Amino acid sequence: MSAAPFIIVAIDGGAASGKSSTARALSSRFRLLHVDTGSFYRAVTAELLRRGARAGDVATVLPVLPALQFGTQVHGGTAQMTIAGRPVDAAELRSAEVNAAVSHFAAIPEVRAALLAYQRGQAEVARAQGFRGLAMEGRDIGSVIFPDADLRFFLHADPAERARRRAQEGQTDAVAERDRLDSQRKTAPLACPPGAVAIDSTNLTLEQVVERMAAAIAARISA
Ligand code: CDP
Ligand code: CDP
Repeated sequence: MSAAPFIIVAIDGGAASGKSSTARALSSRFRLLHVDTGSFYRAVTAELLRRGARAGDVATVLPVLPALQFGTQVHGGTAQMTIAGRPVDAAELRSAEVNAAVSHFAAIPEVRAALLAYQRGQAEVARAQGFRGLAMEGRDIGSVIFPDADLRFFLHADPAERARRRAQEGQTDAVAERDRLDSQRKTAPLACPPGAVAIDSTNLTLEQVVERMAAAIAARISA
Protein backbone atom coordinates (compact mmCIF):
# COMPACT_ATOMS: atom_id res chain seq x y z
CA MET A 1 0.00 0.00 0.00
CA SER A 2 1.47 3.39 -0.96
CA ALA A 3 1.60 6.25 1.57
CA ALA A 4 -1.00 9.03 1.24
CA PRO A 5 0.35 11.79 -1.02
CA PHE A 6 1.61 15.03 0.53
CA ILE A 7 -0.69 17.74 -0.85
CA ILE A 8 0.27 21.38 -1.37
CA VAL A 9 -2.66 23.78 -1.76
CA ALA A 10 -1.84 27.37 -2.77
CA ILE A 11 -4.44 30.10 -2.14
CA ASP A 12 -3.85 33.65 -3.37
CA GLY A 13 -6.03 36.73 -3.63
CA GLY A 14 -6.50 40.33 -2.57
CA ALA A 15 -7.15 41.59 0.96
CA ALA A 16 -10.29 40.10 2.56
CA SER A 17 -10.98 37.89 -0.45
CA GLY A 18 -11.43 34.96 1.96
CA LYS A 19 -7.98 33.33 1.92
CA SER A 20 -7.57 32.75 5.67
CA SER A 21 -11.12 31.54 6.29
CA THR A 22 -11.00 29.05 3.44
CA ALA A 23 -7.42 27.91 4.19
CA ARG A 24 -8.36 27.24 7.83
CA ALA A 25 -11.47 25.26 6.88
CA LEU A 26 -9.63 23.19 4.27
CA SER A 27 -6.71 22.58 6.62
CA SER A 28 -8.89 21.06 9.30
CA ARG A 29 -10.89 19.05 6.78
CA PHE A 30 -7.85 17.51 5.04
CA ARG A 31 -5.39 17.61 7.98
CA LEU A 32 -3.13 20.16 6.29
CA LEU A 33 -0.83 22.63 8.04
CA HIS A 34 -2.38 26.11 7.66
CA VAL A 35 0.25 28.65 6.62
CA ASP A 36 -0.78 32.31 6.42
CA THR A 37 2.18 33.99 4.72
CA GLY A 38 0.52 37.39 5.19
CA SER A 39 1.08 36.88 8.92
CA PHE A 40 4.80 36.35 8.15
CA TYR A 41 4.98 39.66 6.26
CA ARG A 42 3.08 41.27 9.12
CA ALA A 43 5.45 39.84 11.75
CA VAL A 44 8.48 41.06 9.81
CA THR A 45 6.84 44.47 9.41
CA ALA A 46 6.12 44.75 13.15
CA GLU A 47 9.73 43.84 13.93
CA LEU A 48 11.15 46.24 11.34
CA LEU A 49 9.03 49.08 12.75
CA ARG A 50 10.13 48.19 16.27
CA ARG A 51 13.75 48.42 15.15
CA GLY A 52 13.23 51.86 13.63
CA ALA A 53 12.78 50.99 9.93
CA ARG A 54 10.44 53.28 8.03
CA ALA A 55 8.06 52.43 5.16
CA GLY A 56 9.27 54.16 2.02
CA ASP A 57 12.90 54.29 3.19
CA VAL A 58 14.69 51.14 2.02
CA ALA A 59 17.96 52.30 3.56
CA THR A 60 16.42 51.85 7.02
CA VAL A 61 15.28 48.29 6.19
CA LEU A 62 18.28 46.58 4.56
CA PRO A 63 20.70 46.70 7.54
CA VAL A 64 18.09 45.16 9.86
CA LEU A 65 17.05 42.20 7.66
CA PRO A 66 20.07 39.88 8.13
CA ALA A 67 19.66 40.05 11.91
CA LEU A 68 16.13 38.61 11.86
CA GLN A 69 16.12 34.95 12.91
CA PHE A 70 12.94 33.13 11.93
CA GLY A 71 11.45 30.06 13.55
CA THR A 72 8.06 28.32 13.52
CA GLN A 73 5.67 27.21 16.24
CA VAL A 74 2.52 25.27 15.33
CA HIS A 75 -0.61 26.20 17.30
CA GLY A 76 -4.02 24.68 16.56
CA GLY A 77 -2.88 23.52 13.14
CA THR A 78 -1.54 26.93 12.09
CA ALA A 79 2.13 27.86 11.59
CA GLN A 80 3.19 30.86 13.64
CA MET A 81 6.39 32.73 12.85
CA THR A 82 8.79 33.49 15.68
CA ILE A 83 11.52 36.10 15.44
CA ALA A 84 14.47 35.47 17.75
CA GLY A 85 12.36 32.75 19.38
CA ARG A 86 9.36 34.98 20.15
CA PRO A 87 5.97 35.09 18.36
CA VAL A 88 4.66 38.57 17.54
CA ASP A 89 1.47 39.45 19.43
CA ALA A 90 -1.64 38.74 17.30
CA ALA A 91 -3.16 42.19 17.92
CA GLU A 92 0.07 43.84 16.80
CA LEU A 93 0.02 41.87 13.53
CA ARG A 94 -3.30 43.54 12.65
CA SER A 95 -2.56 46.98 14.09
CA ALA A 96 -3.23 50.12 12.03
CA GLU A 97 0.56 50.78 11.87
CA VAL A 98 1.26 47.34 10.42
CA ASN A 99 -1.71 47.57 8.01
CA ALA A 100 -0.31 50.85 6.70
CA ALA A 101 3.33 49.71 6.36
CA VAL A 102 3.19 46.04 5.35
CA SER A 103 2.68 46.44 1.59
CA HIS A 104 5.53 48.96 1.41
CA PHE A 105 7.98 46.58 3.08
CA ALA A 106 6.60 43.62 1.07
CA ALA A 107 7.44 45.42 -2.18
CA ILE A 108 11.17 45.43 -1.32
CA PRO A 109 12.86 42.52 -3.19
CA GLU A 110 15.30 41.88 -0.30
CA VAL A 111 12.38 41.46 2.13
CA ARG A 112 10.75 38.92 -0.19
CA ALA A 113 14.06 37.11 -0.69
CA ALA A 114 14.56 36.92 3.09
CA LEU A 115 11.23 35.07 3.39
CA LEU A 116 11.45 32.78 0.36
CA ALA A 117 13.29 29.77 1.82
CA TYR A 118 11.45 30.15 5.12
CA GLN A 119 8.09 29.86 3.35
CA ARG A 120 9.17 26.83 1.28
CA GLY A 121 10.52 25.26 4.48
CA GLN A 122 6.99 25.10 5.89
CA ALA A 123 6.57 21.88 3.88
CA GLU A 124 9.23 20.26 6.08
CA VAL A 125 7.53 21.62 9.22
CA ALA A 126 4.27 20.03 8.03
CA ARG A 127 5.93 16.68 7.25
CA ALA A 128 7.78 16.59 10.58
CA GLN A 129 4.55 17.18 12.49
CA GLY A 130 2.54 14.52 10.64
CA PHE A 131 0.29 16.76 8.54
CA ARG A 132 -0.92 15.40 5.18
CA GLY A 133 0.19 18.55 3.40
CA LEU A 134 -0.18 22.28 3.66
CA ALA A 135 -2.63 24.99 2.70
CA MET A 136 -0.56 28.11 2.15
CA GLU A 137 -2.18 31.46 1.50
CA GLY A 138 -0.78 34.77 0.34
CA ARG A 139 -0.19 36.78 -2.83
CA ASP A 140 2.49 34.82 -4.71
CA ILE A 141 2.13 31.25 -3.47
CA GLY A 142 0.90 29.74 -6.75
CA SER A 143 3.17 31.95 -8.84
CA VAL A 144 6.50 32.07 -6.95
CA ILE A 145 6.62 30.01 -3.73
CA PHE A 146 4.99 26.78 -4.94
CA PRO A 147 4.32 27.15 -8.70
CA ASP A 148 4.06 23.33 -8.89
CA ALA A 149 1.53 23.08 -6.05
CA ASP A 150 -1.03 20.28 -6.44
CA LEU A 151 -3.82 22.85 -6.40
CA ARG A 152 -3.64 26.59 -6.96
CA PHE A 153 -6.62 28.81 -6.20
CA PHE A 154 -7.04 32.52 -6.78
CA LEU A 155 -9.88 34.22 -4.90
CA HIS A 156 -11.56 37.33 -6.26
CA ALA A 157 -14.23 39.52 -4.68
CA ASP A 158 -15.56 42.94 -5.44
CA PRO A 159 -13.47 45.66 -3.65
CA ALA A 160 -16.57 47.16 -1.99
CA GLU A 161 -17.57 43.73 -0.64
CA ARG A 162 -14.04 43.16 0.68
CA ALA A 163 -13.98 46.55 2.41
CA ARG A 164 -17.37 45.68 3.95
CA ARG A 165 -16.01 42.36 5.26
CA ARG A 166 -13.01 44.05 6.93
CA ALA A 167 -15.18 46.80 8.44
CA GLN A 168 -17.51 44.13 9.81
CA GLU A 169 -14.49 42.63 11.58
CA GLY A 170 -13.92 46.02 13.19
CA GLN A 171 -10.63 46.67 11.41
CA THR A 172 -9.24 49.91 10.08
CA ASP A 173 -7.77 48.67 6.85
CA ALA A 174 -7.22 50.38 3.50
CA VAL A 175 -7.97 47.25 1.51
CA ALA A 176 -7.99 49.04 -1.87
CA GLU A 177 -4.70 50.82 -1.19
CA ARG A 178 -2.93 47.59 -0.18
CA ASP A 179 -4.31 45.88 -3.30
CA ARG A 180 -3.02 48.72 -5.46
CA LEU A 181 0.48 48.48 -3.97
CA ASP A 182 0.49 44.65 -4.08
CA SER A 183 -0.67 44.53 -7.71
CA GLN A 184 1.69 47.23 -9.00
CA ARG A 185 4.96 46.18 -7.37
CA LYS A 186 7.68 44.80 -9.67
CA THR A 187 8.58 41.72 -7.61
CA ALA A 188 5.94 38.99 -7.33
CA PRO A 189 2.90 41.22 -7.94
CA LEU A 190 -0.58 40.04 -6.97
CA ALA A 191 -2.04 38.42 -10.10
CA CYS A 192 -3.92 35.25 -10.94
CA PRO A 193 -1.23 32.92 -12.35
CA PRO A 194 -2.03 30.96 -15.53
CA GLY A 195 -3.61 27.61 -14.70
CA ALA A 196 -4.89 28.61 -11.24
CA VAL A 197 -8.54 27.98 -10.37
CA ALA A 198 -10.16 31.42 -10.09
CA ILE A 199 -13.18 31.79 -7.80
CA ASP A 200 -15.20 34.99 -7.46
CA SER A 201 -16.64 34.94 -3.94
CA THR A 202 -18.49 38.27 -4.10
CA ASN A 203 -21.88 36.61 -4.03
CA LEU A 204 -20.92 33.29 -2.46
CA THR A 205 -21.02 32.33 1.18
CA LEU A 206 -17.85 31.13 2.82
CA GLU A 207 -19.31 27.61 2.92
CA GLN A 208 -19.99 27.63 -0.83
CA VAL A 209 -16.42 28.69 -1.57
CA VAL A 210 -15.00 26.05 0.76
CA GLU A 211 -17.15 23.32 -0.82
CA ARG A 212 -15.90 24.21 -4.31
CA MET A 213 -12.30 24.12 -3.21
CA ALA A 214 -12.77 20.94 -1.17
CA ALA A 215 -14.30 19.15 -4.16
CA ALA A 216 -11.24 20.02 -6.27
CA ILE A 217 -8.88 18.81 -3.53
CA ALA A 218 -10.80 15.57 -3.00
CA ALA A 219 -10.73 14.90 -6.75
CA ARG A 220 -7.00 15.48 -6.80
CA ILE A 221 -6.38 13.18 -3.82
CA SER A 222 -8.36 10.35 -5.35
CA ALA A 223 -6.83 10.81 -8.84
O1 CDP B 1 -5.35 39.30 5.40
P1 CDP B 1 -5.10 40.24 4.26
O2 CDP B 1 -5.45 39.61 2.93
O3 CDP B 1 -5.67 41.57 4.45
O4 CDP B 1 -3.52 40.51 4.20
P2 CDP B 1 -2.40 39.51 4.57
O5 CDP B 1 -2.58 38.22 3.83
O6 CDP B 1 -2.26 39.47 6.04
O7 CDP B 1 -1.11 40.22 3.92
C1 CDP B 1 -0.64 41.47 4.37
C2 CDP B 1 0.27 42.03 3.30
O8 CDP B 1 1.45 41.21 3.20
C3 CDP B 1 -0.29 42.08 1.89
O9 CDP B 1 -1.08 43.24 1.66
C4 CDP B 1 0.97 42.06 1.05
O10 CDP B 1 1.54 43.35 0.95
C5 CDP B 1 1.93 41.20 1.86
N1 CDP B 1 2.00 39.81 1.38
C6 CDP B 1 2.79 39.56 0.27
O11 CDP B 1 3.34 40.49 -0.31
N2 CDP B 1 2.99 38.30 -0.16
C7 CDP B 1 2.40 37.27 0.46
N3 CDP B 1 2.62 36.01 0.03
C8 CDP B 1 1.56 37.50 1.57
C9 CDP B 1 1.37 38.81 2.01
O1 CDP C 1 -7.54 36.12 4.43
P1 CDP C 1 -8.29 37.19 3.70
O2 CDP C 1 -7.86 38.56 4.07
O3 CDP C 1 -8.28 36.98 2.21
O4 CDP C 1 -9.83 37.07 4.08
P2 CDP C 1 -10.54 36.42 5.37
O5 CDP C 1 -9.89 36.99 6.60
O6 CDP C 1 -10.60 34.94 5.22
O7 CDP C 1 -12.02 36.95 5.19
C1 CDP C 1 -12.40 38.26 5.57
C2 CDP C 1 -13.80 38.21 6.12
O8 CDP C 1 -14.71 37.96 5.06
C3 CDP C 1 -14.03 37.12 7.17
O9 CDP C 1 -14.77 37.69 8.23
C4 CDP C 1 -14.85 36.06 6.44
O10 CDP C 1 -15.73 35.37 7.28
C5 CDP C 1 -15.60 36.91 5.43
N1 CDP C 1 -15.95 36.16 4.20
C6 CDP C 1 -17.21 36.20 3.73
O11 CDP C 1 -18.06 36.85 4.32
N2 CDP C 1 -17.58 35.50 2.59
C7 CDP C 1 -16.67 34.81 1.91
N3 CDP C 1 -17.05 34.16 0.80
C8 CDP C 1 -15.35 34.80 2.38
C9 CDP C 1 -15.00 35.49 3.53
